[in-house]
Amino acid sequence: MDNFWQTLRKPILALAPMEDVTDTVFREVVLSVSEIDALNVVFTEFTSTDGLCHEKGRPKVIERLLVNTSEMQLLKSRNTKLVAQIWGSDPEKFRLSAKLISEMNLFDGIDINMGCPAKKVVKNKSCANLINYPELAKEIIYVTTESTDLPVSVKTRIGYSRINTEEWISHLLETKPKSITIHGRTRKMMSNGPALWDEIGKAVALRNQLGCQSLILGNGEVTSYADALDRVQQYGVDGVMVGTGVFKNPWMFNTKPVEITVSHRIELMRKHITLYQDTWGNGKDYNVLKRFFKIYINGFSNAAHWRDGFMRAHGYEEALLLLREMEEVHTSELI
Ligand SMILES: Cc1cc2nc3c(=O)[nH]c(=O)nc-3n(C[C@H](O)[C@H](O)[C@H](O)COP(=O)(O)O)c2cc1C
Repeated sequence: MDNFWQTLRKPILALAPMEDVTDTVFREVVLSVSEIDALNVVFTEFTSTDGLCHEKGRPKVIERLLVNTSEMQLLKSRNTKLVAQIWGSDPEKFRLSAKLISEMNLFDGIDINMGCPAKKVVKNKSCANLINYPELAKEIIYVTTESTDLPVSVKTRIGYSRINTEEWISHLLETKPKSITIHGRTRKMMSNGPALWDEIGKAVALRNQLGCQSLILGNGEVTSYADALDRVQQYGVDGVMVGTGVFKNPWMFNTKPVEITVSHRIELMRKHITLYQDTWGNGKDYNVLKRFFKIYINGFSNAAHWRDGFMRAHGYEEALLLLREMEEVHTSELI
């Protein structure tokens, strides 16, 4: 299998893995309004290797790796690669999960989560806590790489309780991951305070000094395509990963800013609700969908009033009905 990371044109733009956000539905929504070649890599939500290896738990856990045919078509048409992100602490389970994912024939790569700060995961030697166990982290990367032909990458932070960028990243570079995405915060910082891009820049300098082939993507507080290009220029990263920035503007993966009308917002929200309903039906909590509404019902007069209505709507049909009503009231006056 190709190492797609080396064949991508730089700078690389990626949509971050986000739990309960970047399922096949939201990835398709974002891809549908992205320009060809402007969104190069998308990631699944993080998926538990314990869950994938547990016979009873697997059917539920594997839903995180669902890829709709319509998403697959868009990935092809946009030249976008799809990477499955996994987490855990047992190298043997990474081996089995990597095999399982390769055999699904849906993914272009596998990413190992070494950054999630949540208590429920770091209480074990997993995610960001692997920063405290570099030998285990390295073993996990080696075992995963051995078990698949897909390129293996890592997403991490700049330290656990303190900033430890160079020491930690040099451990990772020893294992030659195809790419490392660095979120410019420690575990202790969670999502607070500014992302420390200077530390990301230090990791790039280290990689260059060591002459390693691994790509480095920076992550943290990027909110537009132009902003991403600026970070590449300033910090020398090979690319940028965008997480919450996409909530402010799902149209951000376009080389020129898109002028977003109310009609655009309505159209995209309708697509999101119907795709979500077709994909998940009652199999997923409807309240997860509700969290997306503020992305679309925003930036026009009376938006707060409508948003309130959408938050109170019970279920798909009510939300779609309200959307039609909003369309009738607003399209003419607000374009
Ligand atoms: C709701 C939510 C869910 C997240 N889930 C994941 C995840 O599954 N895997 C992961 O590596 N990072 C996850 N993250 C972290 C993001 O990928 C990203 O590193 C972080 O939001 C910082 O980037 P940003 O400033 O561009 O948002 C999540 C973040 C958010 C807000």
